[in-house]
Amino acid sequence: MPTHTQTEHFDVLIIGSGGAGLTLALKLAEHARVAVLSKFALTEGSTYYAQGGISAVLDEHDSVESHIQDTLIAGAGLCHREIVELTVSQGRKSIEWLRNQGVCFTEERDSQGRIQLHLNREGGHSHRRIAHIDDATGKAVSTTLISRAKQHPNITLLEYHNAVELIGAQKLGLKPQRILGAYVLDSRSDTIKTIAAKCTVLATGGASKVYLYSTNPHISTGDGIALAWRSGCRISNMEFMQFHPTCLYHPNARSFLISEAVRGEGARLVLPNGEPFMQHYDDRLELAPRDIVARAIDHEIKKRGLDCVYLDITHKSKTFLQQHFPTIYDKCLSFDIDISKDPIPVVPAAHYTCGGVVTDSYARTDTDSLYAIGEVACTGLHGANRMASNSLLECLVFADRASQDIKRLLPGIPPPPDLPKWDESQVSDSDEEVVIAHNWDELRHFMWDYVGIVRTTKRLNRAMNRLKLLKEEIAEYYGQFRISSDLLELRNLVTVAELIIRCAQARKESRGLHFIKDYPAPDDSHPPQDTILIPENFNTKDS
Ligand code: FAD
Ligand code: SIN
Repeated sequence: MPTHTQTEHFDVLIIGSGGAGLTLALKLAEHARVAVLSKFALTEGSTYYAQGGISAVLDEHDSVESHIQDTLIAGAGLCHREIVELTVSQGRKSIEWLRNQGVCFTEERDSQGRIQLHLNREGGHSHRRIAHIDDATGKAVSTTLISRAKQHPNITLLEYHNAVELIGAQKLGLKPQRILGAYVLDSRSDTIKTIAAKCTVLATGGASKVYLYSTNPHISTGDGIALAWRSGCRISNMEFMQFHPTCLYHPNARSFLISEAVRGEGARLVLPNGEPFMQHYDDRLELAPRDIVARAIDHEIKKRGLDCVYLDITHKSKTFLQQHFPTIYDKCLSFDIDISKDPIPVVPAAHYTCGGVVTDSYARTDTDSLYAIGEVACTGLHGANRMASNSLLECLVFADRASQDIKRLLPGIPPPPDLPKWDESQVSDSDEEVVIAHNWDELRHFMWDYVGIVRTTKRLNRAMNRLKLLKEEIAEYYGQFRISSDLLELRNLVTVAELIIRCAQARKESRGLHFIKDYPAPDDSHPPQDTILIPENFNTKDS
C-alpha cells in the first residue's frame, strides 16, 4: 500500500531519462538543481533502442536546404517550415555536442585517407546524412549521457519513479495557472512522493504501446501526453502514428527492429517467392518514405493472406553485414536466420508518435512552467510523417531550446508554495488486478485492428464505442483502488487512444501516415491543417 514522504524540492523536474530528458539535464546542470525521473531503469526508453542514427548535414555534397526539402516532402504538407529550418540547421552542432559528451560515432577513411564520420542512408533522405554508431546508436548515446549525468552533483536521477499527476496551481485555488511539480509513485518502495519544482519538463517519449505490435519498449505508454491533456494543454496530430515497415517477424522476437539503414544499403522487400514488389507502389522503391512502404507491405500481406514479407540483403557479404549491422546480424542469427544467406521475415509495427503536446519553438506548452521535449511533443517538425532519424535530432535541438528558455526564466520564478499530499483516504487495495491485464489486451487489440495502418470511418467508430466502455471501467477502478504502475499506464493509454481516434475521425482526407479508405486522397481544396484537440480545462497563458 503506497505511503507518503516529505515534499522534495528542485529547480527543474524532468520526467524522462531518454535522449531528450538527459540532454536537457546536462545543459541545465551548471545553472539549476535538476531531478530526472525514469519509470523503470534509466536506460529503458526508445532512445536506447535506436539503431539507424541521427540525421545531420555533414557531407560536403549535402546541404541544409536539401535536408529541409526532404523533411517537408515526407511531412506531406503539414510540417511547420520555420521549425524544420530551426531543427535541421542545428544538425552539425548537435552531433558535435554529443561527441563532446563522449559519444564515439562510426568513422571511415575517405578516398584521400582522411578520417570522417560514416553516414548511413535512410528512406526519404536524398543524401547519406545519418551519423551513427554501428547499428546501436541509441545504446551509445543513452549510456554516455547517463554516465555524464551520474557524475554531476546537481543532477538527481530517480529510477523506478513513475509520474502520476502534474500539480497545477489552479487545482489548489492559486493564480496564475502554472505547474508546481508532480506526484510520483516510487514503485520500489511503494511510496507516493510530492516533488515540487519551479519548472517541469515532460520528456516521456511516445505512445506506440497503444498498439498490439510495436517496436517500442514497454515504457512508451503516452504518459506525458495524458498528463499534459489532464493539465489543460492542447494535443495535436495524434492520427499520425508511424508504423515502421520492418520489424522482425519471429514468434520469439519481441519488438526487434530491422533498421531502415539495411534498406539504405540496397536490401529489397520481397514476397515469399522472392519477387520484389515496391516497384508497384513508388519510384523510390524501398527508400520511399515509411508511410508508403508500410502501407505497401500491409497491402501485400492482406491481399495474399501472408504472415509476413521478407527483406533480402543477401547481396552483401557476411563480413560487410557483421561490420555494419552487428546487432541485427547477431540477433537474427540467434533465431537461426543468417542474413547473409536468408531473407529476413518482417512486418510493420507501431513505431513513432508524430503528434503530441503542442509546443512552441522553445518547447513551451500551453501552461506556464511546463515544457515538453522529444517524442512526447508536437513541435511541427514531422508534419504528417516523420522522416527517418529526424527524431533524435529533434530531441537534441528542443532540449537545447528548452534549456535556453528555462535558464532565462528561472531566476524570476518563485518557489512553489506548500503542496498538499496525495490523497488516498477514499481508496482501498484492489482485489481485481486481472481487470487491468484484460483491458490492456483488449485496448491494444482493437487499436491494431480498427485504428491501424489502413482505417475506415466504420472501424474508427467501432473503436470509439469500445473505448467508451473501457474508459468508464478504468475511471471507476481508478476512483476506488490504490494506484499501481500498471493501472497508471492503462489509464494513460486509454486517454491516448481516445485522442488518436478523435484526431483520426476529425481528418476527412488521407495524408501522410493517416490513410482512410472513405477519403483515399488528400483534400487539396484548402491549405492542410493540423488537427488540434482542446481540453475542457484549457487555459490560455493570459487567462
Ligand atoms: P524515450 O527515449 O522513449 O524516453 C522516455 C523516458 O520517459 C524514459 O526514461 C521513461 O522511463 C520515462 N517515462 C515515461 N513515462 C514516465 C512517467 N510516467 N514517469 C516517469 N518517467 C516516465 N529515431 C531516430 O532519430 N533515429 C533512429 O535510429 C531511431 N531508431 C529507433 C529504433 C527503435 C527500436 C525505436 C523504438 C525508436 C527509434 N527512433 C529513432 C525513435 C527515437 O528513438 C525516439 O523517438 C527517441 O529516442 C525518443 O526519445 P525521448 O527522450 O523523447 O523518449
Ligand atoms: C531505423 O533505424 O530504421 C529507425 C530510424 C528511425 O526510426 O528514425
